[in-house]
Amino acid sequence: MLSVVTSVVFVILAAADVPDFAAHFGSKTRYEDSAAYRRLLAELGADRSLLRAPSGERCSPVHLTALVRHGTRHPTVKNIRAIRQLSNLLRPDRRDDRQAQQDQSSPEGGRDGDSSTWLRDVLRRWDMWYTDDMDGQLAAKGREDLRQLATRLAASFPSLLGEESVRGGRVRLLTSSKHRCVSSAEAFQEGLHLAANVAPVHYRHQVDDGLLRAFEGCRGYVEGVEKNRTALAEVHKFKHGPEMESLRKKVAGKLGLPLHDLTPDLLEAAFFLCSYELAIKSLHSPWCFLFESHDAEVLEYKCDLKLFWKRAHGHAINLLASCPLFHHVFRTLDKAGWPRRATDAPPDPASILIGHAETLLPFLGLLGLYKDETPPTADNYHEQHGRSFRSSLLVPYAANVLLVLLDCARGPRLQLLVNEAPVRFPGMPDEDAPLYRDVRTAYRHLLDGCDYVEACGGTAAGRGPNTEL
Ligand SMILES: *[C@@H]1O[C@H](CO)[C@@H](O)[C@H](O)[C@H]1NC(C)=O
Repeated sequence: MLSVVTSVVFVILAAADVPDFAAHFGSKTRYEDSAAYRRLLAELGADRSLLRAPSGERCSPVHLTALVRHGTRHPTVKNIRAIRQLSNLLRPDRRDDRQAQQDQSSPEGGRDGDSSTWLRDVLRRWDMWYTDDMDGQLAAKGREDLRQLATRLAASFPSLLGEESVRGGRVRLLTSSKHRCVSSAEAFQEGLHLAANVAPVHYRHQVDDGLLRAFEGCRGYVEGVEKNRTALAEVHKFKHGPEMESLRKKVAGKLGLPLHDLTPDLLEAAFFLCSYELAIKSLHSPWCFLFESHDAEVLEYKCDLKLFWKRAHGHAINLLASCPLFHHVFRTLDKAGWPRRATDAPPDPASILIGHAETLLPFLGLLGLYKDETPPTADNYHEQHGRSFRSSLLVPYAANVLLVLLDCARGPRLQLLVNEAPVRFPGMPDEDAPLYRDVRTAYRHLLDGCDYVEACGGTAAGRGPNTEL
């Protein structure tokens, strides 16, 4: 009894903190926990100047294109069902007869001593509060993620996202049709209005899945990767490989469950639950006590493997399915940087594109970023320790890719930032903000190619991409 009381106190005390591995939740990592962002805060201190123009050359920003991932969201219905199944497994009263019989035959409690007993007890009483209708919707925290990002960007780029742009309705906003993205687009505008002290908010975003979810309409992608188990073989292999198996044994032991009840999907559900409770409710959930840091890194790798093979360098078509977005971004930059006649309408100071991890990763891939020498596979987990392709760093909630066009003495320059930290283009390692014409030269092969229709071999059955707005 005493140990249960002590444990409950321990859980409550720990709630003020976050799990040690909060920076390893893959695409379910909070922006504020993502190591990249924390490093940035430490480096910048109070100085929020993100621009790195060459010293001695006067530059001023003339355009910002921001590719932004939606904020913290609820689990999708598939995850919610797995979470419910996991939670029911721990409650004998909720199990069916088959499971109840197994329960009797499995050793009762105490296998791992008192700590497991109290943890099991806490988890058994955990309130399953997720409902199917939450299916992937933006959480209140997610709205806040986007409001704060908009506020920070407005502070970093006052000439582009300040009062004049907001009042003039000159910030162009495109979003994916998914409700979490539309809600994120609204929240971003709320943040801009708040920063500019402009009220009320008139939302002016447009939906464009042809740009932001182009993969859906790409037959070569849908049939060749998304629906093709062979294309994702490394993910399936790792899911049943030695690292995942030994973790599954350990967690099944802690939960007092027969090993075959805790499937790899339910193991992952427990880890996701830990991440969701933190991201949505700012709770250090008892579910997190099932894992240690090195366990979290195994599950993080599982997420990275999936995104690498399904959304990034793993297959060329993953990237080519985003050619429309690539062309759109460079056309926007061209327009913003070209010399104009005085009679021409001025270009948009900012273009905000709100999408998914699946939107940002292929775009970064086309830029040639985060491509390690050896691809991550089911067999090389230990060699991949220092990999650059890490979803926790690249696509936490509210992740962003910023392209800032600068008007400089020697001509327009382009600076790239990932999650508000300066990143250099792979072909131009010496400069933070190379001349825009040099960037165009470096990506000439894509600007003249990157043919979506050719690469996709036609559009997928059902829904073709919308025409570009
Ligand atoms: C499935 O993926 C494998 C491996 O990438 C590839 O060789 C094969 O052609 C794909 N199948 C289809 C139907 O596209």
